[in-house]
Amino acid sequence: MTTRAMQVANIAFLLDRLAADTPPNQQIRELTENALEAIERRQKAGDASEGVIRWDVDWDNLKRTGEYKLSITDNGDGMTSQQMLDYLNALAVQGANQTQGISQNFGVGAKITALHRNSHGLVYQSWHDGKGSMVKLHRDDKEGVYGLASFELSDGPDWTPRIKDTFKPSVIDRNGTKVTLLGISEENNTCFPPEGRGMNWLITYLTNRYFRLPENLRLQVRVLTQNEEDWPSEEPSASTKTFNFQTVAGSKALFDQYAEAKGTVSLATADAHWWVFADPKEDSKKMSTRGGRTCKVGIVFQDEVYVHLTPPIARRILASFGIVFGADHVVIYIEPKKSLEVRADTARSRIIINGEDVQEANWFEVWGAEFREKMPPEIKAKIDEIMAKTERDPDGKTRERILERLQRIRDLLKPTRYRRDPQGTLRAAGEAPGGASGSAGDTQREGTSTGGGRRGGTSSDDYLADLVESDGELARQVVVSTKEPSVKWISRADGTREEGELEDLAAEIVGDSLSGDMVKANRDFRGYRDLLGFFSKEFNPGGDPAINRKIVEYIEEWMEGQLVEAIMTVRNLTNGRTWTPSDIDRALCSHALTTVMMTRFHVVERVKRSLSSDISKPSKAA
Ligand SMILES: Nc1ncnc2c1ncn2[C@@H]1O[C@H](COP(=O)(O)OP(=O)(O)O)[C@@H](O)[C@H]1O
Ligand SMILES: [Mg+2]
Repeated sequence: MTTRAMQVANIAFLLDRLAADTPPNQQIRELTENALEAIERRQKAGDASEGVIRWDVDWDNLKRTGEYKLSITDNGDGMTSQQMLDYLNALAVQGANQTQGISQNFGVGAKITALHRNSHGLVYQSWHDGKGSMVKLHRDDKEGVYGLASFELSDGPDWTPRIKDTFKPSVIDRNGTKVTLLGISEENNTCFPPEGRGMNWLITYLTNRYFRLPENLRLQVRVLTQNEEDWPSEEPSASTKTFNFQTVAGSKALFDQYAEAKGTVSLATADAHWWVFADPKEDSKKMSTRGGRTCKVGIVFQDEVYVHLTPPIARRILASFGIVFGADHVVIYIEPKKSLEVRADTARSRIIINGEDVQEANWFEVWGAEFREKMPPEIKAKIDEIMAKTERDPDGKTRERILERLQRIRDLLKPTRYRRDPQGTLRAAGEAPGGASGSAGDTQREGTSTGGGRRGGTSSDDYLADLVESDGELARQVVVSTKEPSVKWISRADGTREEGELEDLAAEIVGDSLSGDMVKANRDFRGYRDLLGFFSKEFNPGGDPAINRKIVEYIEEWMEGQLVEAIMTVRNLTNGRTWTPSDIDRALCSHALTTVMMTRFHVVERVKRSLSSDISKPSKAA
């Protein structure tokens, strides 16, 4: 049997399609990666001198055309003219690396991303053994194809003309490559960011992208300013103060530099790199010019960072790692171990573990649970330090009163079983047949890994429930806490509420809505502040701090009582059929808890009564 190999009928279409799925700065990563690989090959082959990669203006091009074009130069192994023909004008080519593979090089990097974004031209100048030649890739709009452009020379057209030695960049001795990005038109200035963000886009992107950079390597970026008119017209000498090179260190080195403590926790399937920062605002500001910030979560794979999460998602993940207070002080980057089958998607922007996207497969929950058990003392100290500021009930008197009140309605805390037709069962005598299993009350534990809702009972309803798959909670362990959650009041002024946390919302359960045992309540929330204002006006026009303390105490006590009651009772609705864990998530989300805090009539009545009785006995109020 023989096989006639499949051909690509429309490469340009395929290339455009693939490029459309990559983020705008992907070309920077791909060209940097090609340079890193070229240097590694050169060093492995015996020339161990320092590797240099420079993102710079192509000053020669500027001199010839008057246009600023971005370029990248490396002193790697370089290419011969034949190699350029072989490697650069074909997609998914093996190249000099010989490492094509699902988890390694795809061979669809720079050509897909950089060529698509530089359809006017992507010029490769490469030196091998001191001999330089060049090619120009572009999109031929007349023909509708991508490919090599011919250079029309006096003795006829050439695809890979020799380059004069005077144009060899200073970085390159005998081997190396320079790639120039001509953009999408003659006058397209490719030194500007593709998405109109600041002029430090290259340093920011590269620092964020690379977790570690190889040793014996200098990755540099030319610093440019916003205003093109101020830019130099020829390469500035190394001694000038402005427009010089900045060296990229990678995000690990950046965090290491500013953190007050750092370390790595070894988890079963990953290393968790963590950093604690003393002053999140100040440290974030200092790191911002290089794209760094605190309260961040990332995933590291093959020394690159793939997933960049910032608040509010990062805060939620950090909470699941046990960092319930002080998330602003922390950064955690997860580096999966070799035992996991990890790979990147074709666009190199997502991480796939065992065939599933990291976030969709809830890996953060798995890592977080283990991290909580192995919490580094430095992070623990930071959490405790901030949590201590929320303490206003040291002897637990308020909580005692709240629990005592709940005790008075304890029969109401456990809802009756759900029945489809309550009328019918009311008329029937004795036990209703085939009630749902596991009525609320005790801690319910269930591995629902087989999918489907809760099982139990023998009625036909339950049988049907077995066939139903409640979406999205296949592997979720259902653990309903029967303990009253504790409420911590947070505010910006106390330093217990972080910027953007619970913004204009009243309260939230920290961690899982079914089992989380801590609730954060927001003192800065409008509904709370209005209530405070209402009572201050009526009971404390003189602004007596002692009376003010009483007002706060009573308001919080009554609101806290409502929150705790709502959470307890809603949790107890869980039955896996009419109330699944995802229903509970919705019923107890921060917006829902805000609704609870907005029912203020009874709170007002109660607080009024307490204050009136205090004020009639002034000695107690003081
Ligand atoms: N800067 C460079 N220096 C030396 N060789 C290079 C350079 N860039 C690309 N090459 C060669 O071209 C081949 C194709 O590159 P590859 O990374 O596979 O695809 P892409 O160009 O799409 O990123 C490489 O294997 C390498 O041999
Ligand atoms: Mg590549």
